[in-house]
Amino acid sequence: MKKRTFLKISATFGAGVVVAPSLVSCNEEASNDTDATGEAAAATLLSFELPKLPYPYDALVAAVDEETMTIHHQKHHQGYVNKLNKAIQETKTEASSLEDLLAKTDLPEAIRNNGGGHFNHSLFWEILAPEPVQPSKTMDGLLSKDFGSVEGFKKSFTEAAGGVFGSGWAWLCLGDDEQLFITTTPNQDNPLMSVAEKQGKPLMGIDVWEHAYYLRYQNERGQYLQKILERINWEAVENNLG
Ligand SMILES: [Fe+2]
Repeated sequence: MKKRTFLKISATFGAGVVVAPSLVSCNEEASNDTDATGEAAAATLLSFELPKLPYPYDALVAAVDEETMTIHHQKHHQGYVNKLNKAIQETKTEASSLEDLLAKTDLPEAIRNNGGGHFNHSLFWEILAPEPVQPSKTMDGLLSKDFGSVEGFKKSFTEAAGGVFGSGWAWLCLGDDEQLFITTTPNQDNPLMSVAEKQGKPLMGIDVWEHAYYLRYQNERGQYLQKILERINWEAVENNLG
């Protein structure tokens, strides 16, 4: 078994989303298929680890309280990682990267739910910041081109996120047509998946499951969205353009 970073895995597949390369890592267990050099074939049984947060649990207190952050990371995200690893072993589902895994059609349900949970939360932690990082001129221009302005983007995003029925995610994505778009997914689905209403490269994802905000905001999802959108690390979002 050897360990490599998510960045390396993503890079192998060009279109892969570079998500928190220093945070997301996985172990790969070579399948029985090896090439002539003895190197593991591309498809393997991957296993994943919980990434460390890039800031302390109380760093986002202006938007999310310490207890919520701690439970969210240590319990919820850890749970997705554990169940994902178990599901990969049980179903013997081989893949070359997390994105490769999630893009497969007919994903076993446990991998869809927990693989999505791992990817989504890894991205979520990365695109938040204790102090807001404003959009660069480039990012501002892209948002203005497709949404009228940064504020126009936030308004549209908030409407989309507020409209998610039950548990799910709201996304800013880059489409194949190089246009930015906003979409939502239920549960732990994401725009990498074939089941997504609209597929694209996720640049930013906001968790609208109640576990992300209920302790402080109870049923007031709109208040949570307003605060969390003030803590976006736009540099990290822009880096995900690839
Ligand atoms: Fe969550």
